[in-house]
Amino acid sequence: MANAEKKTILSGIQSSGALTLGSYIGAIRNWVELAEDYSCYYCIVDMHAITVRQDPETLRRNTLTQLAQYIAAGLDPEKCALFIQSHVPAHAELAWALGCYTMFGELGRMIQFKEKSAKNADNVNAGLFTYPVLMAADILLYQADLVPIGEDQKQHLELTRDVAQRFNGVYGETFKLPEPYIPKIGARIMDLQAPENKMSKSSSSSGGCVCLMDKPEEILRAFKRAVTDSGAQVRFNPESKPGVSNLMEIYAVCSGKTLPDVEREFSGRGYGDFKKAVGEAVVETLRPMREEAERLLEDRAYLEKMCADGARRAALTADKTLRLVYEKLGFVAKPALPSEADANTIAKPGEAAI
Ligand code: TRP
Repeated sequence: MANAEKKTILSGIQSSGALTLGSYIGAIRNWVELAEDYSCYYCIVDMHAITVRQDPETLRRNTLTQLAQYIAAGLDPEKCALFIQSHVPAHAELAWALGCYTMFGELGRMIQFKEKSAKNADNVNAGLFTYPVLMAADILLYQADLVPIGEDQKQHLELTRDVAQRFNGVYGETFKLPEPYIPKIGARIMDLQAPENKMSKSSSSSGGCVCLMDKPEEILRAFKRAVTDSGAQVRFNPESKPGVSNLMEIYAVCSGKTLPDVEREFSGRGYGDFKKAVGEAVVETLRPMREEAERLLEDRAYLEKMCADGARRAALTADKTLRLVYEKLGFVAKPALPSEADANTIAKPGEAAI
């Protein structure tokens, strides 16, 4: 398929912590497949990450590790644009413009804002509140048709569509209205210790979260201790058997089996056997990715080149949309600005021309 006929996808994951098994199963694994048929932009949203206080060195390391993991998980930087959000200034610029078309009340209704502000009561900053506007900018800049997201991000995507529609209503067709893409299996991998909560590095109980870089012994231990229920049947029923059902989804994805296959395989066997098998399947799935990511992390120059290439490709598309928006808003056409490389040839205000 020629690129012009391909539909566009954009998605992103925050670099606020280590990538979890949940983000691999629920997101990245599907991104790899989608990159075969779509024109894909995948970013690491470091600007969203700073809505919660970050340690600078940790944030930088997490961002680079995440890039290495994207590549190690099978995202080909030649096929899709892999980039870091803060490298493409149009994200911040469009977010400002869209913020003027997003209502205070709309943002106040966002569930994630309510949850995060309750959890970070001492730091309810404006960025936490306008977080969905930046996410809308991420998506709309690329005129994305489809946006792979987890269940918990549906409300943000609906807001993105509302804001796009409002803008289009005032200024004429400007933004494409994106559709959510929510995977059928693994959209919500749950905490192994508290299967009513989403698996997440920040909120998890100890042992509830497995990360892509965890060592095999740690992974096996986490699955051995995973919460099940007082029964003994490996059956899929997320309402009555949340722990077992979560383990089944993880096992199905890592072994390539269907849920009925998994039920059959473990019928009449105890939870102990089952949990051991899940742990081993996860270890084998993650091992090659961890090893490749570790290797890539040794080659910082390669990673920097890859994300620079990605940012350039992303900026080309993003700037086109931003220019259109600025024109519709009535801004005077933006001149080309000098790059850092031109610094020695341009006089500072108050200095004589060079
Ligand atoms: N808010 C998303 C999350 O927490 C991350 C994100 C930021 C995103 N920008 C995006 C996801 C654009 C999809 C598209 O999961």
